Amino acid sequence: MREIHVIGIGAGDPEHLTLQAVRLMRSTDVFFVLDKGEVKSDLTDLRREMLRTHIPEGSYRVVEARDPERDRTAGSAAYSPAVGDWRSARADIYERLIAEELGEDESGAFLVWGDPSLYDSTIAILDEVLARGNVAFAYDVVPGVSSVSALVARHRTGLNRVARPVQITTGRRLAEGFPEGVDDVVVMLDAHQAFRAHTDDDVDIYWGAYLGTPDEILVSGPIAEAAPRIEELRAEARERKGWIMDTYLLRRRP
Ligand SMILES: C[S@@+](CC[C@H](N)C(=O)[O-])C[C@H]1O[C@@H](n2cnc3c(N)ncnc32)[C@H](O)[C@@H]1O
Repeated sequence: MREIHVIGIGAGDPEHLTLQAVRLMRSTDVFFVLDKGEVKSDLTDLRREMLRTHIPEGSYRVVEARDPERDRTAGSAAYSPAVGDWRSARADIYERLIAEELGEDESGAFLVWGDPSLYDSTIAILDEVLARGNVAFAYDVVPGVSSVSALVARHRTGLNRVARPVQITTGRRLAEGFPEGVDDVVVMLDAHQAFRAHTDDDVDIYWGAYLGTPDEILVSGPIAEAAPRIEELRAEARERKGWIMDTYLLRRRP
């Protein structure tokens, strides 16, 4: 039976890789690397570097494929169908990779950014491929250090306050308003700096970009003071590198 490992590789620091991840990587025959295009080739390069560092050369194969483009022009109402179409297109690719590139008794791995359980579709896509019934395989999931864990660690703070809930959401959702019933909100996938709508609130922000990498930037403080600084740093970094990944925690003061 074919075997697949979905391996969380951490948020950017090669030292985030767990011993469990390295052990499984060493017994993997084929690594599937999905390229998102030149802009994010840094992320693909990091995966390749991890393989070179931890696995004896010649003991594995790397199979590259191009990730389908997602329709990011779709408005709020169309957002879920757009994501659904994109997942199906990815499922077609994963199905072909597993069926054609992996022998019946071989093991393959997808190296997933951060933790595979958090805003990542690899698990859902593999379930879709299995449900189609065209190719059989077993799969397991190896947890990784998420960008959320990396963010709070670098700011030397906790994710929640004593006995209080915390919510993890997207920039798109935050743009609809500060979530009710929580005072600690982590925001990911925010291309439009939705925090700017909350500069009048009694809120502190803990922001991090390129966490765990040599380009890491951290800013924290009362949001009214920190927001202009973040906007400036973000624009400058985005211009320089061509892409940005940032995450932040908004914490309402008691
Ligand atoms: C598709 S999600 C993947 C999240 C990933 N599975 C994780 O556990 O962190 C991509 C989002 O994660 C966040 N992210 C991932 N890596 C990051 C990093 N090194 N620094 C800051 N944010 C990061 C950003 O909010 C980005 O928009």
